[in-house]
Amino acid sequence: MIKIAILGYGTVGSGVVEVLNTNAALIARRAGQEVGVKYVLDLRDFPDDPVQSKIVHDFQVILDDPEVDIVVETMGGTKPAYEYVKRSLQGGKSVCTSNKELVAAYGAELVHIAKSRNVNFLFEASVGGGIPIIRPLNQSLTADRIEQINGILNGTTNYILTKMAREGSDFEDVLKEAQELGYAEKDPTADVEGFDACRKIAILTSLAYGQQVDYEDIYTEGITKITANDFKYAGKMGAAIKTFGTSKKIGGRLYAMVAPQMIKSDNPLFAVNDVFNAVCVTGNMLGDVMFYGKGAGKKATASAVVSDVVDAVKHMNVNVMTIWEDEKQVVSPIGEMKNRFFVRIRKDEKEKVEEVFENPEFIDAGIDGEIGFLTEEMAEDNFEKTISGFDGFLSRIRVGF
Ligand code: HSE
Repeated sequence: MIKIAILGYGTVGSGVVEVLNTNAALIARRAGQEVGVKYVLDLRDFPDDPVQSKIVHDFQVILDDPEVDIVVETMGGTKPAYEYVKRSLQGGKSVCTSNKELVAAYGAELVHIAKSRNVNFLFEASVGGGIPIIRPLNQSLTADRIEQINGILNGTTNYILTKMAREGSDFEDVLKEAQELGYAEKDPTADVEGFDACRKIAILTSLAYGQQVDYEDIYTEGITKITANDFKYAGKMGAAIKTFGTSKKIGGRLYAMVAPQMIKSDNPLFAVNDVFNAVCVTGNMLGDVMFYGKGAGKKATASAVVSDVVDAVKHMNVNVMTIWEDEKQVVSPIGEMKNRFFVRIRKDEKEKVEEVFENPEFIDAGIDGEIGFLTEEMAEDNFEKTISGFDGFLSRIRVGF
């Protein structure tokens, strides 16, 4: 039997125990041997839970136990997760984690340590929850040059935008309701400001090109400024508004961004609604391939973590090669990225729009005193410069059609 230790008995950690218990027999068959939990590290005690007999409060107990071959890290954050994960790998234990903050910040270093110790650092659950995307990037899409990754990577924002579209409600109202129902965190900043999706697209892009992409370099825009009026225009155009984590290589240059975009039904991500996530990867040979499923939630995320545990058991003393060099990839400045924009503007500036923008396409959603228009594709800094000459500029959203 393989003995594992779980760091953190929160939502995902307890989900890992549940998945291991529910599917014990088939997991044992697929892993080639039984998988048993020896320790669960948590600050708290759980007197009414059978896990209590395995609870330890001191990480050193796990580190010092040669019977523990695999450490599952489901604590979240980087402190103390980084230190615990690093010491586990250095101590010759494989690590499986769901922690995107940890992977985005220290992925290259931890992959390198795992390789040097002939163990594995696996992180399928860190992006897209239960959706297989890390292993496909690492093992299945290896014949292709990745041209683009486009993902709906945050369930909370997708839920909010879906509800705004269906009910015509404003952001603040839907957020409040989502918080009351437990779909959004009390502090929703990381989700609604795009920081969560930013870490996820940084991880995917690092893996796609085998080199470190710093999430701090990725332009990130949240959904807090999207209004019910924006959806009126979207409805008129038959478009949806979704938040995307996007990265693409054009002429050897890397562009990346997290931002809301309008898309139409010809985009495979158009129908991805509610808390679901999806990632569309474009390869130069394969074309588009899409991965869809539950991007969060206890059992879905734990399922991905346990799949990593099975992989680690199957590869005891063999490092599954992950290419993630720590040499940094340069992300091109956002001002140089080319996009189309949907713009709302005071109606009295319509003529000026016609003079200044090339071929603007106007949309009237019947809102008093304003008009919308679509620009042609243009560099972001050119757009910003041009639009700054309009007193009546109200808002803009990027357009993916
Ligand atoms: N807060 C995240 C989301 C959870 O809403 O998608 C998964 O990382």
